Amino acid sequence: MTTDHADSLLETLTDMQRHEQGNHGWSVVHEALALLMRSGDPALDALLAAVRASRPGISDSHLITLLGIALRGLADRDPEAAGLFRPEPAAAGRAAALASILGRDGAQIAAVVTEHSNSFTAARRFLVPQVLLGAYAAHHGIAEVRLADLGTSIGLLPRQLNNRAVFERFAPDLRWSPEAPPYRPIPLTARYGVDAPPLPDLDWVRHCHGPSAYYGDRFSEVLWTLEQTTPDPPGLRLEALDLLDADALTGYLRERRINVATCNFVLYQYDPATRERIVAAVLRGLAAPGLLLSMEPGHELRRQGARVTAYLDGDTTGRPVADVSDAHCIGTVTLLPASADLTGAVRKPR
Ligand SMILES: C[S@@+](CC[C@H](N)C(=O)[O-])C[C@H]1O[C@@H](n2cnc3c(N)ncnc32)[C@H](O)[C@@H]1O
Repeated sequence: MTTDHADSLLETLTDMQRHEQGNHGWSVVHEALALLMRSGDPALDALLAAVRASRPGISDSHLITLLGIALRGLADRDPEAAGLFRPEPAAAGRAAALASILGRDGAQIAAVVTEHSNSFTAARRFLVPQVLLGAYAAHHGIAEVRLADLGTSIGLLPRQLNNRAVFERFAPDLRWSPEAPPYRPIPLTARYGVDAPPLPDLDWVRHCHGPSAYYGDRFSEVLWTLEQTTPDPPGLRLEALDLLDADALTGYLRERRINVATCNFVLYQYDPATRERIVAAVLRGLAAPGLLLSMEPGHELRRQGARVTAYLDGDTTGRPVADVSDAHCIGTVTLLPASADLTGAVRKPR
């Protein structure tokens, strides 16, 4: 790994340890990782170099979360790995245990980190696209929405859209400023969800949740949602597609005449140049007028919250339309001035 990469990784790791949600299961393991990285541990260096070589566009934050997830998988069957997620012993002891685990199981951990992505999915995130897309279709007179959810994980969002009961369960915990556009059904006539092959399953998604009561609650919400929603609402297909294959992505959208794409918590997994290539490929593929609505974590998971960006009419300059105070959509959504282009006028707070 180059010194530049090592420095930026360590900086991101340090910020992620202070992240408000880090305490919900990950910060203890991040602390030991940072100590080991600073000490120049050869097994960790070799693992990071191998991952960088096979996934050149991976972002620091994604690499860090994947390392935590790989260790969490190991912790299910290895008491020494389970100890990495407990605050006792102190950090130096956990870093020593991590060094021994990497020396022993480094190849297995590298395989997880090179072959999978963080597929954490949150049951409440669909609230924001539900409201914004309903308002977009009404404001722009779009009679038919053919939707693709890119990086869908297990496809929660396409199952949830237009499900009023699921909306009503979660909507009261999300405040809007100024007030929320009203709930409107989206005129969906097709819904696709795509993710990288092999498609993530529920067990992998469970591993992507931090080992804590907080993430236990979030995972229960995922399970509840799966029970409440049908796996095949009219027109839903879940398909494997690598978003990094720009031509395949553009062709996929064109063949299915997709005019609205959502892409939530996916682009942060890549460096800025890779993100731009994905956005451009999507916009080339969307049927006119075309909308890509993307929700991505603020500061690449280094701070709490997320920003919602709209790419309208093929314009690759994204317009920030809303800030969400919490990536799991439990706090406040603040509509930004550019949301008026999407949904009509932003109403002033009363
Ligand atoms: C953090 S999850 C977000 C899931 C869901 N959109 C949500 O917000 O709840 C990111 C998903 O993007 C997928 N992803 C990342 N890179 C991808 C690629 N190149 N092609 C397809 N899917 C990808 C991952 O596999 C993962 O399931």
